[in-house]
Amino acid sequence: MRRRRRRTYPTLIRGLIQVSNFFTYRHGELFAEEVPVARVAAAVDTPFYLYSAAAFTAQYREFADAFLPEEPLICYAVKANSNLAVLRIFADLGAGADVVSEGELRRALAARVPPERIIFSGVGKTAAEIAAAVAAGIHQINVESIPELRRVSEVASAQGQVARIAIRVNPDVDAHTHAKISTGRKENKFGVEFGETVSAYNLASQLPGVEPIGLAVHIGSQVTDIEPYRRAFERLAELVRELRGLGFPVARMDLGGGIGVRYDAERPPEPLNYAKLVRDIFGPLGLALAFEPGRVLTAPAGLLVTKVVYVKEGSARRFVIVDAAMNDLIRPALYDAWHDIVPVRLPEKGAALAPADVVGPVCETGDTFAVDRQLPLFAEGDILAFADAGAYGAVMSTTYNSRLLVPEVLVSHEHFAVVRARPSYEALLSLDTIPEWLCQRSPDRSANPVRKRGAA
Ligand code: LLP
Repeated sequence: MRRRRRRTYPTLIRGLIQVSNFFTYRHGELFAEEVPVARVAAAVDTPFYLYSAAAFTAQYREFADAFLPEEPLICYAVKANSNLAVLRIFADLGAGADVVSEGELRRALAARVPPERIIFSGVGKTAAEIAAAVAAGIHQINVESIPELRRVSEVASAQGQVARIAIRVNPDVDAHTHAKISTGRKENKFGVEFGETVSAYNLASQLPGVEPIGLAVHIGSQVTDIEPYRRAFERLAELVRELRGLGFPVARMDLGGGIGVRYDAERPPEPLNYAKLVRDIFGPLGLALAFEPGRVLTAPAGLLVTKVVYVKEGSARRFVIVDAAMNDLIRPALYDAWHDIVPVRLPEKGAALAPADVVGPVCETGDTFAVDRQLPLFAEGDILAFADAGAYGAVMSTTYNSRLLVPEVLVSHEHFAVVRARPSYEALLSLDTIPEWLCQRSPDRSANPVRKRGAA
């Protein structure tokens, strides 16, 4: 069941306030910073992602400021939004990067994130990926299993290097989030089991090519309750004491990401409260802290802008069919996620609202963004936007149904720039090839089962 919504349309339409500090209405027009969204739509055509540079900056500052005394390493989780322009904004603010593949490592380096501020996470790093990370001289590799520990040891030794590693611990704590993005329970594939951590650390201290430098944890994403963090962090602090008691130096603690955002009526932990929790638990241990926030830095900074293609009045439902689809923003289809839907031009005050399903053109019923939602009476050609789409939006898009990846546009003050172009259909098709042996015309087409029209 849906909980009470945050921004009801009556409120929006009456007070006319804002979608966020950086997406606001002026005289009924939605603006991204100083740029009318409709102007971008006219220039690049829908659908497209629209980001606010000021919003990324504000989100980062709020997180970083909560930890001013500690000055931890804040490694932005690249997976949330890996556009190079976005990475450059965070790099310029002093962020490092948390990467989970060679592709993300390359993106972080290309955006000029210093290698000594990059952490490599993930359960299935290949030897080639580990080699790339070691060669780049990154800050730390988070190791999630004994076989992976041995692989890092082999690869780094072969390069004559010593890789600094942290053991990612699975604390067996339920983050109370969607099952598909929960990572800290022992049924989840992530991390070394809590009870195995000491022996993994011990092994790491003996293997060549690796130096265990600390621990890491990440219990899940879109975490809106602070208690699971408390439980996980207390377990990690306990491990630090145990390891130190056994004579192992533990200098670093990577606390992962996961802080949720408010898509609907959630009340995620405030960065200041989260920081206090961290301080209370880890302050006495004198560790160098790192974090891997993704969503909280990016979700509120992006919209997916789309246009109504048709309105179909069914007997059971009113369908608003838009030109964006599940391949562009998969979160509703995959996690039943909520994204507010806001008009780019507000309807007149007092205009009627009516329930509608907002759907995309993809041939799956799951291609549904909203069900039975109270919305203005959108008409063909109207432009609307899905809010809070700056995280896990463009990065999760695909070309399903042979739809082109949509552009990403970045606004800063009164400027906007396309930071990922819409590819051409030629580019899409050029990835495929028809093998030579299929190109030769078959001499005998009589076996073709397609009958001529009218044939019996
Ligand atoms: N660190 C690690 C090791 C992670 O696996 C993740 C996210 C993060 C950091 C960043 O978490 P965040 O602060 O963004 O919550 N596609 C899903 C979310 C998947 C998150 C995967 N791991 C969604 O759209 O909700």
